[in-house]
Amino acid sequence: MTESLLHAPAAGTTSVRIRPMLMADLAAVTRNETRAYAFPWSPGIFADCLAAEHECWVLQDDEELIGHGILSAAAGEAHLLNLCVARDRQGRGLGRLLLEWMVERARSRRATVIFLEVRPSNRAACQLYDSMGFCDVGRRPGYYPDARGSEDARVMAMELLP
Ligand SMILES: CC(C)(COP(=O)(O)OP(=O)(O)OC[C@H]1O[C@@H](n2cnc3c(N)ncnc32)[C@H](O)[C@@H]1OP(=O)(O)O)[C@@H](O)C(=O)NCCC(=O)NCCS
Repeated sequence: MTESLLHAPAAGTTSVRIRPMLMADLAAVTRNETRAYAFPWSPGIFADCLAAEHECWVLQDDEELIGHGILSAAAGEAHLLNLCVARDRQGRGLGRLLLEWMVERARSRRATVIFLEVRPSNRAACQLYDSMGFCDVGRRPGYYPDARGSEDARVMAMELLP
């Protein structure tokens, strides 16, 4: 797996790199996860993803980890399992950069389609996925916990052309 310089953003900010997630990253990953999601993954889930050799990536600037993405790929299909940008870094194009990277990882694992689930109430994520070309392919009733009980998931997919 390679490490990449994704971009050098506007003056006054540091450049952003993406690299494979390590076990040593789990504290920082979990901190970002807990601040970004109302129902975050536990460190154990991230450890399981690393053990399963899923595509586990982190975004970092010169100072700290600022995002993470996890994807599983097998039998020609990829599933985006997590995509997260640190709360105080959202809205600056990093989510799109990370998603584009995860899509490239799916292609390099020879997936021909990539699936994901998203809460319909997650406006930022839905707009990002819509704008990247993901389409609705189903709905999972009561898939997510929420404050009132549960929320359906939109199941989305995008074909990956060679
Ligand atoms: C969803 C998430 C990954 C997007 O990352 P981000 O860095 O904030 O998004 P970007 O700045 O790259 O924006 C990409 C697109 O998302 C959409 N978007 C981002 N923030 C938005 C907002 N507040 N409202 C509506 N759309 C928004 C826009 O379509 C945007 O494209 P544009 O800038 O060309 O209009 C990020 O908000 C996040 O980590 N949220 C918490 C975790 C989460 O919900 N993950 C997704 C689980 S399915």
